[in-house]
Amino acid sequence: MRNILGIGAGYVGGPTMAVIADQCPEHKVTVVDINHAKIDAWNSDQLPIFEPGLDDLIQRVRGRNLFFTTDVEQAIREADIIFVSVNTPTKTYGEGAGLAADLQFWEKTARQIREFSSESKIVVEKSTVPVRTAVAMERILNDKDSDLHFDVLSCPEFLAEGTAIRDLEEPDRVLIGGRHETESGRAAMQTLHDIFAHWVPPERILHSNVWSAELSKLASNAFLAQRVSSINAISAICEKTQADISEVSRAIGLDQRIGSRFLNASVGFGGSCFKKDLLNLVYLCRFYGLEEAAEYWMWVVKFNEYQMNRFVDRILRKMFNTINGKRIVLFGFAFKANTGDTRESPAIHVTHRLLEERAEVVITDPRAIPNARKDLQGCNATFCEDPYEAVQGAHAIAVMTEWDLYRQLDYQRIYDAMEKPAFVFDGRNILDHQGLFEMGFHVFPIGKQA
Ligand code: NAD
Ligand code: UGA
Repeated sequence: MRNILGIGAGYVGGPTMAVIADQCPEHKVTVVDINHAKIDAWNSDQLPIFEPGLDDLIQRVRGRNLFFTTDVEQAIREADIIFVSVNTPTKTYGEGAGLAADLQFWEKTARQIREFSSESKIVVEKSTVPVRTAVAMERILNDKDSDLHFDVLSCPEFLAEGTAIRDLEEPDRVLIGGRHETESGRAAMQTLHDIFAHWVPPERILHSNVWSAELSKLASNAFLAQRVSSINAISAICEKTQADISEVSRAIGLDQRIGSRFLNASVGFGGSCFKKDLLNLVYLCRFYGLEEAAEYWMWVVKFNEYQMNRFVDRILRKMFNTINGKRIVLFGFAFKANTGDTRESPAIHVTHRLLEERAEVVITDPRAIPNARKDLQGCNATFCEDPYEAVQGAHAIAVMTEWDLYRQLDYQRIYDAMEKPAFVFDGRNILDHQGLFEMGFHVFPIGKQA
């Protein structure tokens, strides 16, 4: 039996440690966080995050071999293996502000591990960090005057929100980066491998050097974000040429070299990581003097901003160049379906732009209204859980999040409740556009002719 500790009880730490506890019943898994309210929520029936399957999983393992606590000191003392999943946001101050990762939480964690440890331990980077962060960690942890030894491994997390439990239970791959060249490095990698081998087929557990593992995480998010920006760039030309983005996506996606997933045009990508990790990659490229590589990735971020603005510009243009006083209902505020997370959601930017044009903005979302209220504190937007109530007297609907719920609404009832002409701007292409058109809606999907 091992004592496994997760530091950081957020979107990654909570679900990841819960799945480890579920799959490894012989190990004791503890999760700590400095945020007391969050730990209280993890210990209650109202978990701090929404993820399909998470409630059942927590019910199953909490109190059995999964424990949530704020007692960082004791948790570190007892642990053999420590997974660190603290936040690594974009730095907002000083050198690298707006680009580099802010590693203050990560470094504080490392110092706490050193302070409270009386035995050697394995420390696993789960947070997304700049390549070569493990060197700094090793230096902080492995004090020359101490007999203790810490092996630092990189095991980046690839879960996506909304499918976190499935992604953790059936990962495409688990990546373990470590120091093959030392005996203790190899042993640490094997220990971590053995944990995942409880449920992940061995051919899906990859071993690499630490730097490859750290960089693979940034590269993976950069590729995924670039793919969304690429399809969105094609959506822009579709709108000018009568090409249809759904038909183009299907056609290019059937090429096995390209693949069909992650080709849905949208208002732009959101979420806490794509932009942050791209900016971090840009910073690293510049740091190493690779200006052209930095510019290449920077364009993915810039294009995403253009796509969000393009969406609002189209609303404005199609609604006769004025939305002053018009009621516009955002269907969805979460950055994607099946999560209440709104971090970097395109809906935030779109709301601000609509408010600048003096529209009356109403927000509806099945899960994200509490977060939306925080994001829009001080703004003159209103919130309404019931979409039918939200659309009363509305001039336009803008679909921001691909919740299934929005496919299933009674659009005749919605049409009857709206001002005419009634506009729909489908930022996710999830609605039946022809059906809406026949009802009388003025329909503007992404990447398609009206
Ligand atoms: P989060 O903000 O939801 O959670 C991080 C938690 O760490 C917070 O609850 C915070 O209070 C806690 N924390 C900070 N310092 C601490 C300390 N010294 N001791 C104890 N707890 C501390 O963040 P997240 O979304 O879970 O992301 C965590 C990391 O994982 C980031 O590096 C992110 O890039 C990466 N990541 C996120 C996702 C995702 O889908 N959200 C997916 C893969 C990787
Ligand atoms: C993403 C990655 O998919 C995960 O592998 C990674 O672990 C995670 O970032 C992270 O490091 O945080 P996530 O942000 O949760 O996961 O969600 P995605 O499904 O990747 O979607 C990101 C954004 O792109 C969303 O706003 C989504 O709506 C948008 N998107 C995605 C599109 O607009 N079109 C698509 O075809 C796919």
